[in-house]
Amino acid sequence: MGQRVSVEIMMEESFVMMKPDAPQRRLMGKILSRFEEKGLQIIAMKLIQIDEGLAKEHYGEHKDKPFFNDLVSYITSSPALAMVIKGEDAISLIRKIVGATNPKEADLGTIRGDFAIDMGRNIIHASDAPESAKREIPLFFDKDEICDYDLVDNSWIYE
Ligand code: RTP
Ligand code: MG
Repeated sequence: MGQRVSVEIMMEESFVMMKPDAPQRRLMGKILSRFEEKGLQIIAMKLIQIDEGLAKEHYGEHKDKPFFNDLVSYITSSPALAMVIKGEDAISLIRKIVGATNPKEADLGTIRGDFAIDMGRNIIHASDAPESAKREIPLFFDKDEICDYDLVDNSWIYE
């Protein structure tokens, strides 16, 4: 019989935010289910009214883009649901679950592909790289708001 080799799991944390259209359209539960059903772990979550300063800092990389002011208005227009989600290769995996930036191009089965139409109402944000996650998480969460707990079904999610 072959020896089972345990492979080191690359756990990552991603900053994920349901944009104001998600609570407004009462879609938070459905969207959250996508991440839970996949086997990912929610380790922080809060409904937050983002102010202009935080929106501008979070999306700072886009400050010179023509859509920047509209983006800041959108993100600050009503409460958003900020989260930290943990899992193996979570950052790239969550970007796949979220889908392409333009919901019209996003594959069906992705969150944007299933729940959105317009680029400026694309319902969810997710960190695009480990460096982005490292920068974004502390913008929205204090250390003591992040709950690093064990889930009992982990051995049924990870080999
Ligand atoms: P996000 O940061 O929100 O997860 O989105 P993303 O990485 O897929 O796309 P990004 O290029 O970072 O753009 C940030 C958000 O700006 C809005 N946007 N509008 N009208 C436009 O051309 C345009 N381009 C981008 C979208 O809300 C996009 O998610
Ligand atoms: Mg982005």
